Amino acid sequence: MLPGARRGGRNYARDTLQVVAAALTYALPSCIASEVATELGFSVRRALYSRTTRRRLARLDGCRVNIGFGYRPTPGWVNIELGSTFPDSYFWDCRRGLPFSDNRVTAIYSEHVFEHFDPEIDATLFLRECLRCLRPGGVLRIVVPDAGAYLRAYGQSWERLAVIHPLEQSQEGWRDKGPNYKGLKSVYRTQMQLINEVFRQGYQHKYAYDEETLVLVVRAAGFSRVIRQSCGVSLDHDMAPDNEARQPGSLYVEAVK
Ligand SMILES: C[S@@+](CC[C@H](N)C(=O)[O-])C[C@H]1O[C@@H](n2cnc3c(N)ncnc32)[C@H](O)[C@@H]1O
Repeated sequence: MLPGARRGGRNYARDTLQVVAAALTYALPSCIASEVATELGFSVRRALYSRTTRRRLARLDGCRVNIGFGYRPTPGWVNIELGSTFPDSYFWDCRRGLPFSDNRVTAIYSEHVFEHFDPEIDATLFLRECLRCLRPGGVLRIVVPDAGAYLRAYGQSWERLAVIHPLEQSQEGWRDKGPNYKGLKSVYRTQMQLINEVFRQGYQHKYAYDEETLVLVVRAAGFSRVIRQSCGVSLDHDMAPDNEARQPGSLYVEAVK
């Protein structure tokens, strides 16, 4: 049975992590304890799956890869994820490199994942790995929350912010609206609460990018051609589809090897 699998309606991996996190809170602040428990869970899964996954994926030639697909795997692509599991998808932690051979991958797509990487270590390693795995002419497409757009709207009206981040007014304040926020409708009484939600997401987001910064770091990793794109527009005709619901608050950048 896979870690995280349910038996009799119980999720043993999640239950175990909760017990570990509770134990760690005696020694550590609770936010760090839950991070450590989560990372321990990932390291167990890495130990269990990484070797088999690498063996399978390193053989592929000409594949297309969706990294951190969440609940939107791309049909016909190699879908890799740290968290969720789908049939035919692969558990993989991209902070530890990529499981493909040099110059074998045709395209890499990653939507709202890159901001989860530590900018000093993981983000640079990830970009270098993308460059290594892509074949010459292969395209990397990175989509992140557009910090530039949020900061330009911040301090103006709520309606202006609602253009890039769907919001509706409620009695308690402004709250998330639309398909991206099923069951996760945060309420904001100040605009800075919204900014923190988008760019910190608890402790999950590690960095905020605008166009200038994202282009700079992708170029610094060694990609020659790096451009801003629009939602649904790509240099690669078979690129994975963007989530259109995220379009107004997202930044789209492509890089060619
Ligand atoms: C905000 S979700 C985006 C999901 C999906 N790409 C989408 O656009 O709906 C971020 C996803 O990145 C995944 N992720 C974060 N760090 C990762 C890593 N180191 N390796 C692989 N996936 C990662 C998370 O598990 C999560 O599913």
